[in-house]
Amino acid sequence: MAARKLTVVLLANLKKNAPHLPGEPLDAHDDLDSDKTLEALRVSIEAAGYRVVIMEGGVDIVPQLRRLKPDLAFNICEMHWGDSREAHVPAILEMLRIPYTFSKPLALALAQDKPMTKRVLAFHGLPTPEFQEFARADEPLDPKLKFPLFVKPAREGTGMGVDGKSIVHSEAELRERVAWVIAAYREPALVERYIEGREITIGIAGNPGVEHSWRTMTDGRAYGGTFEEAVRGGPFHFFPPLEVDFAKYRPEDTPGIYSNLLKVALADDFHVICPAPLEPKPLRELQRLTAATFQVTGSVDVARVDFRLDQHDHDKPYILEINPLPGLSPHFSDLCIASEAEGIEHAQLIKGILELAMRRQGVPVPAPVKERAPRRVPQVLPEPVLQPA
Ligand SMILES: Nc1ncnc2c1ncn2[C@@H]1O[C@H](COP(=O)(O)OP(=O)(O)OP(=O)(O)O)[C@@H](O)[C@H]1O
Ligand SMILES: [Mg+2]
Repeated sequence: MAARKLTVVLLANLKKNAPHLPGEPLDAHDDLDSDKTLEALRVSIEAAGYRVVIMEGGVDIVPQLRRLKPDLAFNICEMHWGDSREAHVPAILEMLRIPYTFSKPLALALAQDKPMTKRVLAFHGLPTPEFQEFARADEPLDPKLKFPLFVKPAREGTGMGVDGKSIVHSEAELRERVAWVIAAYREPALVERYIEGREITIGIAGNPGVEHSWRTMTDGRAYGGTFEEAVRGGPFHFFPPLEVDFAKYRPEDTPGIYSNLLKVALADDFHVICPAPLEPKPLRELQRLTAATFQVTGSVDVARVDFRLDQHDHDKPYILEINPLPGLSPHFSDLCIASEAEGIEHAQLIKGILELAMRRQGVPVPAPVKERAPRRVPQVLPEPVLQPA
């Protein structure tokens, strides 16, 4: 008898369904997903041998999930309101005791809050640009912060609220931009030292035990295995580093920052280099910092960590943020481009993410679907035609 197919509920928020408020910024909800991404995920999850049911994240999912009783949720919900909106759906899944992919409420809420993430990174001695959080525009500026500075919303993604004016050169520009961020996004502004230089992002996969902790990654031992090894409980896998190729964009479109314009309006004409050219030593350091950020924020399964390399200080790396729900659009999202660059197609990536989540939560991983040999169809010989005598 064929084994029962496990049911995976694909939980997402579509940009086209986002509720809009009067006066909200033009890029509001740009972090949500498209039909195209959802369809690609549905195809990849089905190809891994699961039954897929798609659900839009929201308050109605509780009765729907109770009826459906899925074996696992593939959760990419970013939701619409609140400081911890990415934590809403995982919290519901935990209440309903449904295992799910990607990080848990605490890590998702933490990563959503960039200043809070930076406090955790700083506590662990991990390099992140010096910063100050502004709840109002007239707060005294920390004298340790030197211009140029970079201003962005404290809790957005997809470059929302990030454009050429994010780089400020004077106190007047700073106050104006901070006031705009607070009013437009109704949240604090994060002001950081502006790091001029290359921009690299690194995807990471795995839930290894303590023996592969970032703290053991300084002793010169090799670390980082294949994606398959990470999926089976081995050391972390680092996807090839991806660099934004700013030289290929028109200077009027970007002053060397990965803005909302580049990520959304110009998304079809993106310019990246993957694998980014990096010597083994700096690459290893970026991987160590990626693992460290992943672990100190309590992230699991898969995430992406964004860096800037300070061109005025020997390309010293600075951690900007961690994305525990990285974009998953094949051929477009940074993580997918990086995985494709090493020959891991979308279906394999998604299957791996499902299996990482299942192993982590004690859900038995179904045996690989065996390609059945084509059944021998018994030859039915034509009835002999009886010739009339
Ligand atoms: N301190 C900084 N110095 C230089 N550039 C910065 C700094 N902070 C942010 N940037 C630029 O702004 C972009 C967006 O910033 P960040 O990665 O924090 O935001 P995001 O919108 O959450 O990104 P994502 O799309 O990865 O979710 C970065 O990719 C980088 O180009
Ligand atoms: Mg980013």
